[in-house]
Amino acid sequence: MPAPVMTNRHFRLMTLSLLFRDIIHPPEAMLNEAGIKAGLHVLDFGCGTGSYALPAAQIVGITGRVYALDVHPLAIQRVQRLAVKKGLTNMQTILSDGMTNLPDAVIDVALCYDVFHELREPEKVLAELHRVLKPDGILSFSDHHLKEETIVSRVTAGGRFKLSGKGKQTYTFVKA
Ligand SMILES: C[S@@+](CC[C@H](N)C(=O)[O-])C[C@H]1O[C@@H](n2cnc3c(N)ncnc32)[C@H](O)[C@@H]1O
Repeated sequence: MPAPVMTNRHFRLMTLSLLFRDIIHPPEAMLNEAGIKAGLHVLDFGCGTGSYALPAAQIVGITGRVYALDVHPLAIQRVQRLAVKKGLTNMQTILSDGMTNLPDAVIDVALCYDVFHELREPEKVLAELHRVLKPDGILSFSDHHLKEETIVSRVTAGGRFKLSGKGKQTYTFVKA
């Protein structure tokens, strides 16, 4: 079992701040930029409280699937509880600090929102996201803790990804 990067108290405080953020910046706008639509298979890396994973599961519907991954047990418990409450049967949670255990090339869109700055092993995570993405899959990225040049240089540094677009709130990377 991986060690969570934050205490339970810190996680609960973060939950409140994310709820507030979601009122100001509705998650659906980010998902729209990421091109989430019915039938897609989506990985939400560092899903936190499920701000993106839960609405994504509603959008992809029964022909799609959402994998919600987080290192914190409270995140996984919360997302599982809300998914059951909302009747989302197309959602699978993964408790992990990086490895997804998914087969190669099964994901259409990987979401990496507000988590990259926290990663202890970002290179390992980028390699895993690259592995699970389909050849034409996209990495939808956002991290307000990092400047644009830092985001682009760090995500593209390993030669796995290249920048393909920039929206109002997200960067889109594709396989290089
Ligand atoms: C600031 S929250 C953002 C959550 C969500 N992406 C959002 O924007 O609402 C960061 C989340 O990333 C998780 N996290 C940090 N490092 C991680 C890692 N190596 N693997 C998986 N999750 C991680 C934390 O537990 C936390 O839930």
